[in-house]
This record gives sequence, C-alpha cells and structure tokens, in this order.
Amino acid sequence: ITNNLALTPPMGWSSWNNFGPDINETLIKDTIDALERTGLKDAGYIYVNLDDGWQRYKGSRAEHPLEVDPVKFPSGIKALADYAHSKGFKLGIYSGPGDTTCAGYTGSEGHAEDDAKMFASWGIDHLKYDSCCSHHDAPQSEVQQVMLDMSRALIATNHSTVFHACHCGWANVWEWAGEEGANQWRIGQDISDDFNYPGNREKYYFDVLDMLDRGNELAQYSGPGHWNDYDMLIVGLNGESKQLVGTGASNLEYRTHFSLWSIVNSPLLIGANINKLDKYDLETLTNKEIIELNQDPLGQPATLQWKNENNTLQIYAKQMKDESLAVLLLNRGSDTAYITVDMRRDLTVPWDVYRMRDLWKHKDLGPYDIPYTTEVRSHEAKVYRVWQVACTVGC
Ligand code: GLA
Repeated sequence: ITNNLALTPPMGWSSWNNFGPDINETLIKDTIDALERTGLKDAGYIYVNLDDGWQRYKGSRAEHPLEVDPVKFPSGIKALADYAHSKGFKLGIYSGPGDTTCAGYTGSEGHAEDDAKMFASWGIDHLKYDSCCSHHDAPQSEVQQVMLDMSRALIATNHSTVFHACHCGWANVWEWAGEEGANQWRIGQDISDDFNYPGNREKYYFDVLDMLDRGNELAQYSGPGHWNDYDMLIVGLNGESKQLVGTGASNLEYRTHFSLWSIVNSPLLIGANINKLDKYDLETLTNKEIIELNQDPLGQPATLQWKNENNTLQIYAKQMKDESLAVLLLNRGSDTAYITVDMRRDLTVPWDVYRMRDLWKHKDLGPYDIPYTTEVRSHEAKVYRVWQVACTVGC
C-alpha cells in the first residue's frame, strides 16, 4: 500500500532534540515565525513536527483518553494546524503503537483508527509513530502489524498524512515498512550531539559517523516515498540538548553532518531552537545547492564509492536526475589530507573531460581531463556536482 506522499525527503523542524517534552503553543508559533523570518521556510523546511509531550496524560491508554494538554496548548491542535497552514507550513504530531509513548505519555494502543481520525480532523500532515528504542525485543510480526494498522487507518481518512514508522532501526523495518505505506523509518537509535561519540554504540547511542555507516548498508531500501531516516539534525545544538548525549560538534562538523544527511536523502528535520541558530548554522541549513541533492526527484541516495586503507578518507556519490553526479569527499581522520577523485576508477563513469561545481564555495571548476585532487580538513566534507563534458572510450 502507498499514500503517494513524500516523493522527496520531508524537510522541516521537530521539537524533540532541543525541547524534549517541554513544548507549548507559543513555542510552536514562534518557531513557525522564526522559520519564515530566517529564510528556512523558503529553503524548503515546511513540516513543523510536535514530538512527544503534547499529550494531556502520562500513563496507560487503558486508563486515559488521548487528549491534548490544555495547559501547553490552550487553543488546541486544530488551531495550531490552522496557523501553520495559513503561513504555508504543515503540522506534524507524534504518537506510538504502545500503551504509553517513549516518554511515558498515553499511546495509541488499540486505537489506531480513532486516533488517525482525530489527527485528520485536526488537519495533521505528518505522524511520527514511535514504538520506542526500548522495545527492540518486540517480535517483528507484531511491530509490522501495529505499523500497518496505523498506516491503513491514516490512508482511510483521505487526509494526506506523511507516515513515519519509527522503530529505532530494529525489526529490519526498512525491509517491510515501505511496502506498508511508511514514508520514512529510522535506521538507528537516537543520534547523539556528536560527530564521533565515544559512548556505547552497540547499546544506544549513534553518532554522525555510525549513522552514516549503517545507512550505507541500507541504501537500497531508500527511494521516492520511502526514506531511510538518519534521525533529526543536530546542527546548532552545541551540546546544550537535554535529550541527547554528546558534547556538541564544531561548526565544520555540523556542516559535514548536514552535507551527509543531504546526499544520502535522509529527511531533513532541524532539531535545534530556530531562534538560537547563528549566521553560520543558517548558512549551512539554507544552502540550496546542497538541499538540491537531497530533493532531487530521482531519489537515489549516495553510497560509498571509495575509501583508503584505514577508512579515514572516503568518497560518496550519487546519480542526479539530470545525469550529473553528486560527489562528497569526507575526511573522518584527525589530520588534514588530500583526496583524489578519478572519474573512471572511483566513480566508474567513462568521463574523460568533466566540469564541476563546489557546492559550499559556490564556485565552478574545470573543465578537467585529469583526476581532481583537493585538500580536505579533519572532519570536513567537500561536496561537488559533476557533469560530463567529453568521453572518448566506452561511452
Ligand atoms: C524516542 C525517539 C526520539 C523521540 C523520543 C520521544 O526516543 O527515538 O526521537 O521521539 O522517543 O519520547
């Protein structure tokens, strides 16, 4: 089944990474206004997603109805959706198939249809339906069934609701969720606010590089309408998140993280307080040439094409709809290094003469008829769009 939505990865903002459950109507309206004022809306960030914490009750659905918290949202969610829509945004909400949600609020267990109808009546455009990282031992068939129930219920409302089947990368969700109407699914557990977090990877925390490696193995499952979700962006959190572990990343590392999420076609949901983003963060998040890679209609995610012996240097690439290539040179190591890209050898295209554009410097380069070599700083990603100019053999 399919809802024919999210033909390119959803872009917007989500409340969780920065605010956790401390959300309210004023904050969300302010965020909408800030997205507009900062140019983020024009760059494509139109989903404004309430994560966990909008609900009135903590505790079991068997004992409580699912209602909006009247103190946090005195005007109700419908009024908020109307506000979002009047400004050209979309409003997202959060629930889960459990008796409670991950933060202990009343969940949707046994009420998929009622809740889908309620969300549709409010005008909700995106649902993150979260079965929680802590429930990773739930049998796959069970997770599949509850996700399918909600997916069907949303489609039955005839309201276009993007569906995020969130299961923290467990139960091989990528293998089945796309066919069951999910538009995105997390490939791993919660991201940490760190480029390379020294914590326990096996258990809970994924940093930028862990997520990248996991996603590369799962690239085949991502495509138009059904995306591998690398988790919400950490750009601009600067180690201040109460929800995420990690001590923050440098400006350059946040930019690299953004380049990576873009080129692998992850949904791009900003996790920071929009009012706290500085000039550099905004320049990162609104780079239209980088966003174009993410929003390319072909929907092909970049994959690893080359790495050096100790895996500190890597080249990622993907095909774009206009037959150009998007190419990213990544230095994961701690020293500045040179990376060389040879079209035929590394990217397996028979391009003897090519031209390129540096998407962070906004500068055209070439044409070249020899491999391209450039310096890449520690934790930097250089990103290019490359076009063929001439081919002599095997074209
Ligand atoms: C899980 C998810 C997070 C967030 C919280 C909310 O941990 O992975 O993204 O939605 O639940 O409680």
